[in-house]
Order: sequence, then C-alpha cells, then structure tokens
Amino acid sequence: MRGDPMGERDPHIPVLLRPILETCAPISGLWLDGTFGAGGYTRGLLAAGADHVIGVDRDPLALEMAQGWIAQFEHKLTLVQGVFSELDTYSDKLLDGVVLDLGVSSMQLDLAERGFSFMKDGPLDMRMSQDGPSAAELVNTADETRLADILYHYGEERASRRIARAIVEARAREPITTTLALAEIISRCLPRPKPGQSHPATRSFQAIRIAVNTEFSELAEGLAAAERALKPGGLLAVVSFHSLEDRIVKRFFQLASGQESNANRYAPARADSAARFDLLTKRAIGPDDQEVSENPRSRSAKLRIGRRTSAPAQAVDAAALGLPEPPAPKKGRR
Ligand SMILES: C[S@@+](CC[C@H](N)C(=O)[O-])C[C@H]1O[C@@H](n2cnc3c(N)ncnc32)[C@H](O)[C@@H]1O
Repeated sequence: MRGDPMGERDPHIPVLLRPILETCAPISGLWLDGTFGAGGYTRGLLAAGADHVIGVDRDPLALEMAQGWIAQFEHKLTLVQGVFSELDTYSDKLLDGVVLDLGVSSMQLDLAERGFSFMKDGPLDMRMSQDGPSAAELVNTADETRLADILYHYGEERASRRIARAIVEARAREPITTTLALAEIISRCLPRPKPGQSHPATRSFQAIRIAVNTEFSELAEGLAAAERALKPGGLLAVVSFHSLEDRIVKRFFQLASGQESNANRYAPARADSAARFDLLTKRAIGPDDQEVSENPRSRSAKLRIGRRTSAPAQAVDAAALGLPEPPAPKKGRR
C-alpha cells in the first residue's frame, strides 16, 4: 500500500528501480518480475540488458494492459497471470534474477471500483486477482475476535477491538458494502487526525487488504520459491513498503545468509547453516532525496538484495520468519 494509499504515486515512476539496476549490474539472462504492475521494473530490466523477462501479476487487468508490449519488445517478454508464491513453476530454466515490488499498484488504488481506497467510494472489494472472497465478505462475516486480530496483527491498529465492535454493530443494521461506509465506521472510533497525520482508516484498510490477498503467506512462499528458482549467482531484489513486510524480508535474508543468530538470539543454533544467499545490501536501501521529491510515495520503500549461492534451497520456516499472526484463513490459489 506504499504506506500511503492516497494515490500520490505516479504509476509511471517505478520505486527504487535505479538502485536495483545499479546493484545488480551487469544485467543479463533470464529475469522474472513477480509483481509486473505497470511494467516499470520489466521495462527497466529489458533496457538494462536482460535477454528475457517473465512478467507475473495476479491481477488480470495489469497484464491485459501490457499485451501489446510483447511484440514491441520483440518477444523478449512473457506475461503470466499467477502468484509469485509459485514463481518457480513459470520457467523450465533457472533464473538469473527475480524482482518483487510488494503491495498494490497505483493503478489498483486509483480505480475506485477495485475497492482499495478509503478516499474514493467503491465496492468493498480489494482483491488483486479479482476472484475469491472480497473485503466485503470478510468484513460482513468474520467474527468480532477475528476482525480485531486482523486489524491488530496486519495493521498494527491499537484500537482494533473498538473498531471490530463498531463493524459488527454496523453490519447488524445493514451489510457494509462500500469503501466509504467502512472508512466512516472506522473514523468514528478514532480521534480526528491532526494536520500531517494519516487518515484514520489507513491501518485498518492495510490490514483488511493483507488478509483478503493473504499477502504475508504469499511473501514467505514467494521468497522460498525465488530461492528454488534462481541459479547460483542469481539475484533476488525485494522492495517492501511497510515495516511488517520489511521484517519478513529482512529475516528471510538473515536466515538464508547464515545469520540466523541475529534473527532470533533465543533460537537453538542450527548445524545446516551453509549460506543460500550472500547479502548485497547489508542495510536496506531507501530512496534518495531526489526520488522522494519526485515521488513522495517512495519514502517508506526499502530495498534488499541477495545473491544466490550454490547451497541447496530449503523449505520456508514461517515461524522463524515471524509471520504476523493470526494465520490467514485457508488460502485458495488466486
Ligand atoms: C507495487 S505494484 C508493482 C509495480 C511495478 N514494479 C511497476 O514498476 O510498475 C505491485 C503489483 O504486484 C501485484 N501483486 C501483489 N501481490 C502479488 C502476488 N502474490 N503475486 C503476483 N502479483 C502480485 C499487484 O497486483 C500489483 O500489480
């Protein structure tokens, strides 16, 4: 959600692309862009020397808009509608690089009918893939405890219980079907924001979107799928936009690069700690002043990059990654 779902982000300005291209240079071979969106990373990779890019997005609309590019890029581009948790199934060959730019796109935020924005009235939808249970189904059917847990764990919303109670009371009168109706219910539970503070519904909308799209399990499985899909020397670049996402990415790279004692100093030492990645970014890279001034929404972005070693891939350990609880309801592949 870029920490700021207000539509400030220009869809034509890809976030942190320059440091990705610089750190991964020279770029060549087969890359996979697991979050195609408006195609900014894919275009950047092809222009920088990638021989072929597989562009993946779970949103059919994103790919529809780019169909014309395939001929334009002389068939150096393949588009796949799918989820990045399965990215190792989209190519027979091992990959030279994977990029993931997490969250929703400005295109998704800006279209009121997609139901992501509390600033524009639309159906309470929030499904990136446009199928499966919508936000309206979650908000109108989940019990009060589950709603509160989602708001707290996925949105770090301290007023989670108060908001969950207000939602349950409101839906007993009539179903909550629109973004503005939900935003209004949430806003009434919280103090009026001071100038410069974010909209009161920011954290709750983030939480509901994460639950609807099972974003954290997608991320954990996507990182593991990238580990399986990359050739030795292949690169994995991940851009996250809020602290919960970044924490998962950071822990993944700590564990995979053999620094697990830093990730959890109380965990027992593990014998099988041959590094599966070498970290190219000792600390996360953020946007420079110029990028923030050109694209204010980039300000919360964090980039981490690792280079795959030849050590065998390992299964993802969700507990070690510290995936926020509660676990999402049983996931349908979308
Ligand atoms: C922030 S945008 C990417 C923008 C892109 N880097 C660009 O330069 O235009 C994130 C995109 O990832 C997609 N997405 C999010 N989670 C996904 C997942 N698990 N699998 C595949 N696509 C996903 C969203 O539908 C959205 O289009």
